[in-house]
Amino acid sequence: MKKRVLGKSGLEVSALGFGCMGLSFGFGPATEKSEAIKVIRAAYDGGVTFFDTAEAYGPFANEEVVGEALAPVRDKVIIATKFGFENGVPSQGTNSKPERIRAVADAALKRLKTEVIDLFYQHRVDPKVPIEEVAGTVKDLIQEGKVKHFGMSEAGVANIRRAHAVQPVTALQSEYSLWWREPEKEILPTLEELGIGFVPFSPLGKGFLTGAISDKTEFDKTDFRNTVPRFAADARKANQALVDALGKIADRKKMTKAQIALAWLLAQKPWIVPIPGTTKLHRLQENLGGASVELAPEDLAAIQDVLSAVQIQGDRYAAQHQSLVNR
Ligand SMILES: NC(=O)c1ccc[n+]([C@@H]2O[C@H](COP(=O)([O-])OP(=O)(O)OC[C@H]3O[C@@H](n4cnc5c(N)ncnc54)[C@H](OP(=O)(O)O)[C@@H]3O)[C@@H](O)[C@H]2O)c1
Repeated sequence: MKKRVLGKSGLEVSALGFGCMGLSFGFGPATEKSEAIKVIRAAYDGGVTFFDTAEAYGPFANEEVVGEALAPVRDKVIIATKFGFENGVPSQGTNSKPERIRAVADAALKRLKTEVIDLFYQHRVDPKVPIEEVAGTVKDLIQEGKVKHFGMSEAGVANIRRAHAVQPVTALQSEYSLWWREPEKEILPTLEELGIGFVPFSPLGKGFLTGAISDKTEFDKTDFRNTVPRFAADARKANQALVDALGKIADRKKMTKAQIALAWLLAQKPWIVPIPGTTKLHRLQENLGGASVELAPEDLAAIQDVLSAVQIQGDRYAAQHQSLVNR
């Protein structure tokens, strides 16, 4: 797989990373550990060198799985994890106090079975802790050799600038996909100016953009998507128009919808590295195929026409999660 460099930092990773969250958290029951390890190792065998986890995924369980899966190839991969929630539990609110960041780093190093965290993201901005203090704490961890790079997630431009002035930010990880394009307004121009890489999460629209989900799909009762307005049955029914129209372009290109969604993101900027996730080996192979497709200008124009024509229904987060983003 081709490589990309995140921003000015020189952090080289595979053009597509692998999002490990769904193996332990978010979309219903966790995948059995040995199966999860197989999927992560298959991603590595397929050329992925960039793996995404967080203290909050489980909590804790996902870092354990990632650590075990990647231990045999530790020096050949980049592992990104995240701090920033009270006790690692998002529903308990944010906590980016310096002592908490340090404790998360030490615990993550153990769970990941590693001596250094390649990329340490603040999961959500904590309004109770000045961002300079957060960036300063990560800077200290970098000087101590426990962390290599600093990242942020769903931060707004003012906090990105303030943090970057204290400790250069290597990557911002925020939602970006064919059905969530808000970062194009302010975020992407700011990242380009500052030389910060961009890691789109939920690049497949949490599965919706692949065409595998319809208004009839019933999610497990623990599935996060039950809380997302955009996944309400009515919204899914309306948003199907986007998937159908993209599907026609995919058919013409002899690609799948998931591959179109990933190739479109890769075509936006050379410093964008999407991190799709799946629990299934055959879908992993399908998604990795998206990295080798280059969309021609006329394909991108056809996709743009579809995006302009379809009005997406439903917020991307319920209120309690929306209040944590873009601040
Ligand atoms: N920073 C943050 O706040 C944040 C938030 C969310 C996610 N993330 C990161 O981003 C990563 C990816 O995001 P995500 O998992 O939310 O969404 P995603 O990658 O857009 O979609 C994952 C979903 O799509 C399904 N899927 C994957 N490939 C498919 C295919 N080819 N055909 C049909 N269905 C397919 C998966 O189901 P199956 O498992 O059944 O295939 C899963 O339900 C996560 O793993 C996590 O590391 C970060």
